[in-house]
Amino acid sequence: MRVTTWTEYSLIISIHLAKRGRKGAGPVAARELADSERLPADYVEQILLRLRRAGLVESVRGARGGYYLAKEPAAISVRDVMAASEHQTFEINCATHPVDDDRCNPGHTCSIRPVWYALQQRVDELLTSISLADLMKQEADLFGELAQSMLPEPDPTYRSGFLFGRRSMAVVTKSAMREPELWQAVGNTPLLSLQLPPGHGRIYLKAEWLNPGGSVKDRAARAILRDGLCRGELPGKRLLDASSGNTGIAYAMLAAAAGIGVTICLPANASPERRALLEIYGAEVVLTDRLEGTDGAVERAREIATDAPNRFYYADQYSNPANTQAHRDTTGPEIWTQTQGSLTHFVAAMGTTGTMMGTGGFLKEKKPGVKLVGVQPDSPLHGLEGLKHLATTPNPPALYNPAVPDAVAEMSTETADHTARWLARQAGYLVGWSAGAAVAAALDIVRQDPQAVAVVIGCDTGARYLSDPHRWAVK
Ligand SMILES: Cc1ncc(COP(=O)(O)O)c(C=O)c1O
Repeated sequence: MRVTTWTEYSLIISIHLAKRGRKGAGPVAARELADSERLPADYVEQILLRLRRAGLVESVRGARGGYYLAKEPAAISVRDVMAASEHQTFEINCATHPVDDDRCNPGHTCSIRPVWYALQQRVDELLTSISLADLMKQEADLFGELAQSMLPEPDPTYRSGFLFGRRSMAVVTKSAMREPELWQAVGNTPLLSLQLPPGHGRIYLKAEWLNPGGSVKDRAARAILRDGLCRGELPGKRLLDASSGNTGIAYAMLAAAAGIGVTICLPANASPERRALLEIYGAEVVLTDRLEGTDGAVERAREIATDAPNRFYYADQYSNPANTQAHRDTTGPEIWTQTQGSLTHFVAAMGTTGTMMGTGGFLKEKKPGVKLVGVQPDSPLHGLEGLKHLATTPNPPALYNPAVPDAVAEMSTETADHTARWLARQAGYLVGWSAGAAVAAALDIVRQDPQAVAVVIGCDTGARYLSDPHRWAVK
């Protein structure tokens, strides 16, 4: 079988698109793909042209244009990509590549030729049965396998395309940075039920507070770190981002395990627990104006990134498609399996909106009838850390597509607090205010529809808010 660099890079580019360039996540510019692999842009354009002609990618014109994968990664086989890039998958040409002039003349009978054609058929079948999604899963598994033996120091030779690139598997196992075991502890959280009187619907809490970093943001942070490693930006640079706390803590914890430096711009009014945790995990904390909230923190992160582009990798969780993708790949499928598809509503509080866009988008594709309910504070000034008042913010997250949620429920800080207290005492679920707000929205849903089966994201642990004792006190 002949695999040229065309095929190799066609597969790599397709996988980059599968991770970042799916509908809803925004197109990816050819230049960006070229930069990721350090390839000439016109070479990447040629690859994309062939993939587009084969119907595997679609393009969007204009200044913010780029390329999408035209189908789900599971629906594109390795053979599709090879056929698009090489026009064939297996070259048997006795006329042009004779081994023996007599025997290899197609006019002659040859006992070997039927064997080669049968082999070609088998190879084609095999390549058809392996999809881009399988390759991506294998890539993730490889990370896991490598995690079995820990490396004391991160290895700066880590580069993108580690599975399919120019380096052989043997080189990869020697030089690639190994994914720390801790990273494997993210996700696969339990789905816990809430006891409601019979005939009052069903509510399940996705226990994201049980992630190792105590919040749902571990998922996004891990995906963003992996993406930064794949792009070759990490571990050479420090990861820089703005965070109201949870994403910062998740980055700091996961990066500590991998020896990656982290700088977090944090609004000064973030809870003291958040700041303390960031520092304990060794992150550099840049405090920003409390009155400017996360917008001020984002502004500061951008300035730092612009001033020292060689020192920092600005991860930008608000526009990084890896955030949404993390939930498409993990939270959504977990909920689908745990409920066996029986849910009628999915409820999540919205900050960067990655959880809603990724999980909601996945569940909607699986079951178009499922209702997606985004939860928001009821005013721009609120006490629900991590949430953004999307109706009034001058900087809505780039990830946000308002068409995704079927409804947006606004909750007051008091209702959120009350519900969080109730969850702790009633069920032993110690969750934060945003999870309280989301459960309050779910209670409204089952009140109106007693047949409803609502799955709610329990975003973070209430232990992160103990410095607010008055909010926990029974009123
Ligand atoms: C406590 C809390 N709840 C909810 C969210 C919202 O999640 P997302 O950013 O995925 O919309 C966040 C985000 O940081 C958070 O920290």
